[in-house]
Amino acid sequence: MPDLAVEIAGVKFNNPILTASGTCGYGEELAELFDLSQLGGIVTKSITVRPREGHPPPRTAETASGMLNAIGLANVGVDKFIEEKLKFLEKFDTRVIVNVAGAKVQEYVEISARLADCSRADMIELNFSCPNVEAGMAIAGDPIAAEKAVREVKRVFPRPVIAKLSPNVTDIVAIARACEGGGADALSLINTLVGMAVDIETFRPCLTNNTGGLSGPAVKPVALAMVYKVYKAVKVPLIGLGGISNYKDVVEFLLCGATAVQIGTALFIEPDAPIKIVKDLRNYLTKNKLGSARELVGQLRSY
Ligand SMILES: Cc1cc2nc3c(=O)[nH]c(=O)nc-3n(C[C@H](O)[C@H](O)[C@H](O)COP(=O)(O)O)c2cc1C
Repeated sequence: MPDLAVEIAGVKFNNPILTASGTCGYGEELAELFDLSQLGGIVTKSITVRPREGHPPPRTAETASGMLNAIGLANVGVDKFIEEKLKFLEKFDTRVIVNVAGAKVQEYVEISARLADCSRADMIELNFSCPNVEAGMAIAGDPIAAEKAVREVKRVFPRPVIAKLSPNVTDIVAIARACEGGGADALSLINTLVGMAVDIETFRPCLTNNTGGLSGPAVKPVALAMVYKVYKAVKVPLIGLGGISNYKDVVEFLLCGATAVQIGTALFIEPDAPIKIVKDLRNYLTKNKLGSARELVGQLRSY
């Protein structure tokens, strides 16, 4: 039986299949459908200092091979998250990655400091890249700001820190290097691409935020190219995401350099997709006489 386990910054994952932030809340609904212990890890919805309602509906729209969202970081806030949501996740044998978002560096630091004592928060993922709130992009697109933010969070959070990168930048490699320079233990990429859809009957944008973030199969080629480029430029492990819906997509990401992957939009179509992917990945490895998922990482034979 091939070994699916992977390690990222000293943290062991039972398999490389994680769920993506914002697409499975805090795991409660998914837990009604399958045992979360079957996942390599779960990444929570972005948590902010105070609870947020997010943008008014409509805040999602379907597009060709994908979807747009402008949820606006709706979440319960760090206090309730620690009291209720993290406690719920404690009972599963899976890694818990808490995604953190803020309007300024100080807010990332404040939340990370609160999570420092919660040993069940195995890692944190810094959402520098949310295209739907103004401040997010300021850090996502500026290497100096990104490096500073990672460095300050690292001072207060004793376990590994992942920086989540935005594709909406001129040079993602520069941001990746800056986050690594600031002490990021791993990088995840990509967040959504800024996009828009228009209702031709009302002449209105389909989202109240006017623009939103594009995700799903439509973004996979962009995500793969970015993982491929960043893998060649940094030493820290990468977590790849963007449009993954089956095991073949996962293999592509691993070959391009991702050590693990996250499944996002696919959960809305097939909530148990990650479980099926774990099984199919194991079969793929067996069929190809590979002893572990790790053997695929970065093995792309590029021209
Ligand atoms: C409805 C929705 C909400 C999301 N919310 C967050 C969020 O709160 N924080 C975050 O870092 N990413 C968020 N994302 C981005 C996803 O985590 C992921 O980076 C992106 O959707 C690409 O992966 P996918 O194509 O597999 O969905 C959200 C995506 C969707 C579709």
